[in-house]
Amino acid sequence: MILSDEQKVKRFVVPRYAINKLSFAGFVMLLFTAGTMVVALALAAIIGESNPYMGIFVYMVLPFFLLIGMGLILIGMYFTRRKVKRLGDEAIPRRPRIDLSKSAHRNTMYMIIAGVLFYIVLSVVGSYGAYHHSESVEFCGETCHVVMEPERVAYRNSTHARVACTACHVGPGAGWYAKSKLSGAYQVYAVLTDKFPRPIPTPIDNLRPAQETCEQCHWPEKFFGAQQRIFDHYMYDKENTYWPINMLIKTGGGSPTTGHTSGIHWHMNIQTEVEYIARDEKRQDIPWIRITDRQTGRVTIYQNDDDPLTDEEIAAAVPRKMDCMDCHNRPSHKFRSPTYAVDYAISTGAIDRSIPEIKRVAEQALIGDYATREEAEHGIANTILTFYLNNYPDFNRENIGLIDQAVAATQYQYSQNFFPEMKVRWDEYPDNIGHFISPGCMRCHTGSHRSSDGRELTRDCRACHAIIAQGTGDRAQMAVNEEGLDFEHPEDIDDAWKEIGCFECHTGTQP
Ligand code: HEC
Ligand code: HEC
Ligand code: HEC
Ligand code: HEC
Ligand code: HEC
Ligand code: HEC
Repeated sequence: MILSDEQKVKRFVVPRYAINKLSFAGFVMLLFTAGTMVVALALAAIIGESNPYMGIFVYMVLPFFLLIGMGLILIGMYFTRRKVKRLGDEAIPRRPRIDLSKSAHRNTMYMIIAGVLFYIVLSVVGSYGAYHHSESVEFCGETCHVVMEPERVAYRNSTHARVACTACHVGPGAGWYAKSKLSGAYQVYAVLTDKFPRPIPTPIDNLRPAQETCEQCHWPEKFFGAQQRIFDHYMYDKENTYWPINMLIKTGGGSPTTGHTSGIHWHMNIQTEVEYIARDEKRQDIPWIRITDRQTGRVTIYQNDDDPLTDEEIAAAVPRKMDCMDCHNRPSHKFRSPTYAVDYAISTGAIDRSIPEIKRVAEQALIGDYATREEAEHGIANTILTFYLNNYPDFNRENIGLIDQAVAATQYQYSQNFFPEMKVRWDEYPDNIGHFISPGCMRCHTGSHRSSDGRELTRDCRACHAIIAQGTGDRAQMAVNEEGLDFEHPEDIDDAWKEIGCFECHTGTQP
């Protein structure tokens, strides 16, 4: 077929096969979807914050319609082409001719313009409304925030309170953004259909590797030296005796170039890779560890001699590469144990230490079996008030203000650390940073993990920290050199701590 010049120009402007009802419908769909996307993105830019539901809408729902639109156009073209092949050139649809001198054509055009304007106004109002609805208390309160409330509350109390959730959970880059949006869409579905697990299981499988999140802000090469920490404890006696433990934690460094490759951040030494196999989901039982020196290629394997893996188990397992989150697994969502919550409230003065036995009583009040927040508030008040009424009536009469204050402080600690609706509390999410109430470092540093050449993974109390001072009053001790003090257990337990971990007795409540 020879085309005239005019025909060539027309064919260039609109492929002729595309003139059919199906392709036209696809085209309209494409146009409207693109319009909505522009409006939604412009709105997000003007409002200046991003909203997860808006994100799901713009980046997942709308592109889906874009694809359908394009598909319709192509399918329409395909069928027209087949028709033309079958029936010859006659079947080629005639181009519509628009002639504005005809009133019918003019009116149609006016209607289309009016329709488009109406659509734009509607979609601006509509998406603005949807945006605000998804931000609103009813929507968040009822759909999502019951699920995330524990993490959100703990986060507000953490060092990272000013770091966006997405800085750790998504991080920069398109790949993880899409991945998180996909799992986000499933999560929205799970929440709407009430299918989500309570509590949310950890470790989170698809959490982005630490190199790409934490290391945006924390630079492993710069760690060196030690960090001082004071652990404030109060004993379970009548006087709530103060027992501080003041320690230098040997954080150390991770960079061979600066020479600081000793200490705790040794694990993050750029030159060595540490991998391990865990038996359980929560990664609390670690019988097998492999370290590889990247320069020499030397491999050392440590196994728990008391309870080793079989060769088949090792072959079947996929070792996990150790990263920041294997120790700092609760950087932003620490749920305080009852012991720690009460110690904290006493140390800040929220609970007055002069109230006899308050450490023990407040802790008892916290661990009652409560189904809801309201039940807990009543239960806590009840436990504490009746205890003092019955056991210390004189003290109670003279100091009712102090006791009321202790009740309020205990209820506050409950509200920040216990979430009965989500079944979240400290023992659901073990913290791996120390070894006091969960195995933490002593998942590996047990004293029974040995390498094939007989080296032992240290359990020496001085390998990781030096005690500068401990105890108070007559029993206070201060270190005289950088070696630090020998640990002294505040109660006489026959030096049991030398053989078994603190966490075997201290589980977050009175041992
Ligand atoms: C400093 C980094 C960081 C920030 C900021 C952060 N998270 Fe997390 N989040 C983590 C880590 C690490 C885990 C635990 C991962 C694991 O154990 O697998 C986690 C776990 C969670 C979990 C799983 C349940 C749990 O408690 O372990 C939820 C839900 C969650 N975060 C929500 C949020 C929300 C909502 C925000 C913002 C209000 C937020 N996170 C901010 C690092 C962070
Ligand atoms: C967007 C930046 C940012 C990201 C991402 C981030 N942090 Fe932090 N982090 C900070 C800042 C800022 C501080 C210091 C807060 C202060 O000094 O009070 C901090 C403090 C810390 C501390 C010391 C807290 C303490 O109580 O002593 C640890 C540990 C830590 N971050 C671990 C992590 C881990 C693990 C991750 C990854 C899951 C992470 N951070 C991700 C900004 C970040
Ligand atoms: C073997 C466990 C372990 C690993 C792995 C680990 N840390 Fe730490 N880190 C610690 C301990 C223990 C401390 C001491 C402070 C404490 O007790 O909370 C600490 C302290 C810190 C601090 C605060 C002190 C400082 O020097 O600024 C930051 C920030 C930190 N770590 C970030 C990281 C980052 C980022 C990674 C990953 C590259 C990482 N850590 C890997 C155990 C670890
Ligand atoms: C997954 C197992 C594992 C966990 C968990 C673990 N470590 Fe280690 N740690 C190792 C291995 C393996 C070595 C290397 C032993 C060697 O030198 O061959 C090591 C070495 C060390 C060293 C000696 C570094 C040096 O100077 O040579 C210190 C200190 C240390 N770890 C502290 C900690 C602390 C503190 C924690 C908890 C916050 C912890 N580790 C958790 C496996 C682990
Ligand atoms: C593998 C390293 C490692 C070894 C070995 C180790 N610790 Fe620790 N220990 C830590 C870390 C890390 C912390 C800090 C936890 C934190 O920041 O919350 C800690 C915390 C403590 C605390 C304060 C706990 C609290 O919450 O009040 C005491 C006390 C303590 N260790 C005593 C000991 C004694 C005694 C031994 C010897 C039996 C020992 N540690 C062996 C790493 C170690
Ligand atoms: C054999 C069990 C056992 C082991 C192991 C053990 N403790 Fe204790 N601990 C106790 C008992 C029992 C008390 C006293 C409780 C009471 O007064 O009712 C106690 C009290 C304490 C107290 C004062 C009260 C409190 O909870 O704050 C501290 C601090 C303490 N232990 C620290 C440690 C540390 C650190 C370790 C590990 C190095 C450890 N304990 C190992 C049984 C143990």
